[in-house]
Amino acid sequence: MNEYKVKDIGLADEGELLIEWAEAHMPVLRQIRQRFERERPLEGVRIGACLHVTKETAVLVKTLEAGGAEVYLCASNPLSTQDEVAAALARAGTHVYAWRGETTEEYYWCIDRVIDHRPMLTMDDGADLVSTLHSKRTEALEGVKGGSEETTTGVIRLRAMAADGALRYPIIAVNDTYTKYLFDNRYGTGQSTIDGILRATAILLAGKTFVVCGYGWCSRGIAMRAKGMGANVIVTEVNPLRALEAVM
Ligand SMILES: NC(=O)c1ccc[n+]([C@@H]2O[C@H](COP(=O)([O-])OP(=O)(O)OC[C@H]3O[C@@H](n4cnc5c(N)ncnc54)[C@H](O)[C@@H]3O)[C@@H](O)[C@H]2O)c1
Repeated sequence: MNEYKVKDIGLADEGELLIEWAEAHMPVLRQIRQRFERERPLEGVRIGACLHVTKETAVLVKTLEAGGAEVYLCASNPLSTQDEVAAALARAGTHVYAWRGETTEEYYWCIDRVIDHRPMLTMDDGADLVSTLHSKRTEALEGVKGGSEETTTGVIRLRAMAADGALRYPIIAVNDTYTKYLFDNRYGTGQSTIDGILRATAILLAGKTFVVCGYGWCSRGIAMRAKGMGANVIVTEVNPLRALEAVM
């Protein structure tokens, strides 16, 4: 019996439909899963994952499990968990500790539960799992072989730890791959940020002045989408080359 803590396990049917929808749009992971089912490359590997608990992450988790891994999942943001998805994963056997609206204390309680299971690999989105392992939970560092970090902020934190000689195991900077920042940051965050603003404000963007701070990979996607929706876009940027690019 898997251990889990989610908002309501009764939401699992709804979560399964959401995961099915995401899976239909993720052909690469589907192919990897088919290979993993045959080859089982992660047999016996315990993975601690601190990621947005969304339908897309669920497809990733199921792929890792198809490869033989045991996955322990907590949220990388207290507000991004889809409770239906967390319930569906928990019902299917994943060890999930996540619900939408966790307090700060609850957020770190969930990370601690993942670490209790002594992960051999970590998957992070913002480096909260890695930094907890390196601060309060150093006794669990010994068995960790490696990890991955998804986002810009997490990679910046890890590079600072590495420069201080504090990082105790190797971590793949997923954010530095072309397939991450050219697509997820630019187009994914470009779209989801606009979506969030529209859901929160329900205003028409056309004709509004829209200020984007920075002209990095996320912000250029946001600026591009806001401009396409008719906003008057102003970019602030401290890097002169990127500022020039924004002007052009
Ligand atoms: N929620 C998501 O889905 C998601 C996805 C990817 C990244 N992120 C986060 O978004 C943030 C940005 O990521 P990115 O990949 O676009 O980073 P980036 O490094 O590509 O871009 C950041 C830009 O901000 C500029 N900048 C820094 N300080 C500034 C200042 N004071 N004023 C104006 N500009 C300034 C930098 O020069 C740089 O061009 C990070 O925190 C990252 O972790 C979120």
